[in-house]
Amino acid sequence: MELKGIAALVTGGASGLGRASAERLVEQGARVVIVDLPTSAGAETARAIGPSAKFVAADVTNEEQMQAAVEATAEFGDLRAVVHCAGRGGALRILDKEGNPGSLDHYEGIVRLNLVGSFNVLRLAAARMAKAEAMGEERGVIILTASIAAYEGQIGQIPYASSKAGIVGMTLVAARDLASRGIRVCTIAPGIFDTPLLARLPEPVKASLGASVPNPARLGRPEEFALLAEHIIRNPMLNGETIRLDGALRMAPR
Ligand SMILES: NC(=O)c1ccc[n+]([C@@H]2O[C@H](COP(=O)([O-])OP(=O)(O)OC[C@H]3O[C@@H](n4cnc5c(N)ncnc54)[C@H](O)[C@@H]3O)[C@@H](O)[C@H]2O)c1
Repeated sequence: MELKGIAALVTGGASGLGRASAERLVEQGARVVIVDLPTSAGAETARAIGPSAKFVAADVTNEEQMQAAVEATAEFGDLRAVVHCAGRGGALRILDKEGNPGSLDHYEGIVRLNLVGSFNVLRLAAARMAKAEAMGEERGVIILTASIAAYEGQIGQIPYASSKAGIVGMTLVAARDLASRGIRVCTIAPGIFDTPLLARLPEPVKASLGASVPNPARLGRPEEFALLAEHIIRNPMLNGETIRLDGALRMAPR
């Protein structure tokens, strides 16, 4: 699908991978609704990108707020592309040092944001896309964001790894389910990217994380994620697949 003139929606668009995706889509001629939390830098991000971007504050796990965000894309035309980046980590051990079981609330919170939030965005965006006329052979493209932790979750990543594995599992079934509507679904599974998510780590830790990547031996750049998102939107044969974007990194147990 061509990007010029289409309406797109990017969640988590105030920061990191989402922000880079919003910038790239606008550069390529799309008009983008940035969805992020009200406390985020969404409004200033949209201002910095220019009149082809608009910020709508919403929590991706909230039905009404997310529905309103999807409706807000109408100002830019029929919704054709979604890049869903909103998500977060959060360490949890199955047992703490004293042998007590890990917090169920903590586990549920991360699964709710990463996995239930992805389904919420997927279903609401798909419902909107399905109503539009086809553009050539397709109606729209939805890109979800997993992580290589879906495959090689490290110790302490149990809620994150299992929520991201759920997104990988969702991808093919969603592509099959929405095929008759002309809507494609793909997922990007990033390795380690230099975003505000990693900002709390000291520089030497970031450097050693980068050095652990076989080639290129550095952290990924958010623009590289955005480049793949753009390609997925453009290439009609990409569907139902999770693509690792990780410089051949395979994470160790810790
Ligand atoms: N950075 C990495 O190394 C890396 C690696 C693998 C996967 N990922 C995944 O990529 C995605 C983006 O990560 P990032 O590094 O850009 O993180 P980031 O923290 O820079 O950006 C995430 C954005 O999501 C927003 N967000 C959080 N909860 C939300 C909610 N309930 N509703 C709406 N917006 C919400 C945040 O406000 C933030 O702006 C996440 O799903 C993350 O798990 C990142």
